[in-house]
Order: sequence, then C-alpha cells, then structure tokens
Amino acid sequence: MVSRVIPVDPFDLVVFGGTGDLARRKILPGLFRRFTSGQMPPEARVIGAARSELDRDGFRKMTAEALKEFMPEKARPKADVEGFLAHLDYVAIDAKGKDGWKELAKLMRPGVVRAFYFSVAPSLFGALAERLHEHGIADPESRMVVEKPFGRDLASARALNRTLAEHFDEHQIYRIDHYLGKETVQNLMALRFGNILFEPLWNHQYVDHVQITVAETVGIGGRGEYYDKSGAMRDMVQNHLMQLLCLTAMEPPAKFDPDAVRDEKLKVIRALQPVQPGSIVRGQYAEGEKSKSYREESGHPDSRTESFIAMKIDIANWRWNGVPFYLRTGKRMRTRLSEIVVRFKEPPHSIFDEDAGNNANELTIRLQPNEGMDLKVTIKEPGPGGMRLIEVPLDMTFADALGQEESDVPDAYERLIMDVIRGNQTLFMRGDEVEAAWAWTDPIIEAWEAGRDAPRPYDPGSAGPEEAFMLLHRDGRRWREIRA
Ligand code: BG6
Repeated sequence: MVSRVIPVDPFDLVVFGGTGDLARRKILPGLFRRFTSGQMPPEARVIGAARSELDRDGFRKMTAEALKEFMPEKARPKADVEGFLAHLDYVAIDAKGKDGWKELAKLMRPGVVRAFYFSVAPSLFGALAERLHEHGIADPESRMVVEKPFGRDLASARALNRTLAEHFDEHQIYRIDHYLGKETVQNLMALRFGNILFEPLWNHQYVDHVQITVAETVGIGGRGEYYDKSGAMRDMVQNHLMQLLCLTAMEPPAKFDPDAVRDEKLKVIRALQPVQPGSIVRGQYAEGEKSKSYREESGHPDSRTESFIAMKIDIANWRWNGVPFYLRTGKRMRTRLSEIVVRFKEPPHSIFDEDAGNNANELTIRLQPNEGMDLKVTIKEPGPGGMRLIEVPLDMTFADALGQEESDVPDAYERLIMDVIRGNQTLFMRGDEVEAAWAWTDPIIEAWEAGRDAPRPYDPGSAGPEEAFMLLHRDGRRWREIRA
C-alpha cells in the first residue's frame, strides 16, 4: 500500500548531542527514512551540534556509518544516502561555554522552522536554552525537543519544567515519550474513537479488567549505571506504561487536538488511586544458563533495583469504578511483546446448559511485534453432540490487512520529529502531565526506599516472579500468557 506523504515546511533542525548514541541509533536513521519517503523538502537542513571537533564532512561520514550500522542494506540505496547527507551540516559547540555559538547563529536561516533537539543530559538543558536566546538563535516560534528521563521525581521534574519555562513557552516544548510515536499506540485512539463498536462497552458495566504488558527479552546491557538508579518504575512505568494506561482509560476528547487529548490523559493520571504495597510485585532477573544476573550486569552486587514490575491499579472515576488495571513490564522475559488486553465480563445469563461452558470476550491490541488486534469470540463447537461453546480469535494483523511490509511502518522517532516540524504537540507530554505522573509514582518509590525490601528473583526467559501470577490469581484472574 502506498501511503500519502505530505512534505513538511522547510526547516533547520539542530541536534545537540548529534554524535551521541540516540542520534546515531534513532534520530538520524529516522530523518533518513523521512527523506527517502519524500517528506523532507529540498531546503531542509539537519545541523549536528556536539563537542566533537568534527567538520561537516566528518559529520556526514559519521552519519553514513550510523545508517550502515542501524539500517538494513536494502533500506539505504547509495543515491538516497548521498542525497540525505547533502542536507547535513555540523558545528562543534560547547554547551556551557562560548565556542561554536556564533558559528551556529550564522548557519541559521530566516523564514524556516527552527527546531532544537536536546539529545543531551538534562543538566545541560538550562545552559543550552540560555545560549540559544543570548545569541538570538531561538525565536518565539522555535521548537525544542527533550528526551526522557524527564526528572527522577516530582521535585526534579518541576525544576526542569521551570528551567525550560524561563526560555520557552509551553507551546514550544516537545517532551518525547517514544511510545506515543508508535503506530499502534496511535491506533489505539483510532480504534476507540473511530468506531462505534467499542466505546459503549468500554466501561465498568462491561469490562472486567484490563492488562497492559510490555515485556522485553533484552537485559540492561551496558546501561547499568543509568538503570540501577531508575529501575522499571522510573524507566518504563512512569512514562511508557502510564501513557498506554491513559490512552486506554481516557474519556473521548472533543477533538484530536493537542490540549484536548492531553487534558483527558491528565484527568486519568489524577484519578489514579495510591497503590497499596500488597498490589505491587517487584522482580529482578537472576542468572541464566547463558546470561548474567541483573546484579552482575549492573555492577551492583547488592542492588535492590527492580527489572520487573507487576501492579494492580484502580482508577477512581465513574467509568472505571471497580475495574482493575493490571500493569507489568520486565527485562529478560520470555519474549518481546507489548499488548493491551481488555477482558470483558461474561454474559449476565447463559441460555445454554451448564456444561456448554461460558466464555468472556477479550480484545487484545498488539502494539509490538506483529501489530494488530484480536478479539476472542464465542461460537458453537462444530459437529454433532449438542451445543458446546468454544472461543475462537478474530485475528487481524495490520500489515496483512493493509498489504504492508513491517519495514513500511514508520519508526516512532521519525513520526515524532516530523510532528515537531509540523508544530503538532498531540503526541508529546505536557509539563503538567509529567508532573502528575511523578506525583503518583513518588510515594510508591519512597515506600520501597524506606522499607528496603528486595525485589523477587525471577528466571531469565520466564514471565516474571511467581508472585506476579498470584497478584491476579487471588482476584480469580489470570495474566494472558507471554508466548514466544
Ligand atoms: C526506553 C527504556 O525508554 O524504552 C528502555 O529506557 C526500553 O529500557 C525501551 O528498553 C523500550 O522501547 P521499545 O520501543 O523497544 O519497546
């Protein structure tokens, strides 16, 4: 299927931290794909800005190597790579000093969209913002993009928001949560609000419970220093899982418009009940046959940081009264899978014999891999022998339905960067949303830190510690299996 690509306005995008890991892995390959799809206008320019003493050719060479490393060969024909590299420029810059700022000011062109991607440590945000203004590089319409982690608690997130607010208006700030850029996450909104079918059932009258799972097979790899100070709660729950929960639980916004959507998400976060200690299970992966334990990998032999979390959350509002949302996420699990499962109630009365069985419908939205949805419906088991009911899936993989290859699906980053250029904040977090999410997670983390309880060990390649199963079992429910 050929999708319609509308070129964006001409832009100058400055990537601070342009030689860093995120730039090489995501930002530059993402921009390259937008270039090959025809979305980048001929006047567009991407300016790398970092400490490394590179020149324009050096940056182009580094970018070519990054594309080679992070993209399959067939996705990067030579002529396209060369065409893309011609859009790149570079300036060596000292974020906290004087070097490079005048050169950058000279490079910027009037009359095009100006965007600044802060792909650097949050401690540099203030200095960068200050210098952009001091040198007249940022104007009231410039946009700035910041990455997670956006703070590590409410106090630090507030401080960051204040720093940014000294130099930029909220409408200029794009806080990235890359989960919001995933096609299927956006599809969640299309599914809920573009169909009449689901919305009438999407409430406590018909929904028994919701499960949100983000499982990864990877461990923490070389990120031990960062991860051990974060854990799954700060790294995944406070942002990615919270966003999935919000999109699943929010009221229909009046419009698909940045503030209308974000207002509704914020209301969900504010309606989250404090989580009781007995409703959370923390886990940490143990040593496997071929893999190191979390403690060894992180370099912290006594670490009490969790690499797995399962929790039960209540949303105190009219729609979701009494409907638990079970969240779980972990590293080194059986398979890589992100999905949302909406389990409906059983029909109120069965007209069939008791031994016919009674089943509940279940809608699963698969975010990755194999993006799609499946709805379990009850039918009669074929053949003679009376009325016996069985469950069968109505299964749709979006790629099959749309005749797409997996490689046609845009990566989260490329979508989000183009939204920055278009000036559309719908898929970015607003300052008050981030703060509300921290306000909810802070007491949970503080209680762990005060109690010093250790996470439960779990086997790599499993579905987490046994206690995670018990969390649902004691409510008479079961997690949907994490299948390889
Ligand atoms: C990042 C986390 O934000 O998201 C990582 O810091 C995690 O720990 C990653 O692995 C997961 O993203 P994705 O897109 O691979 O599901």
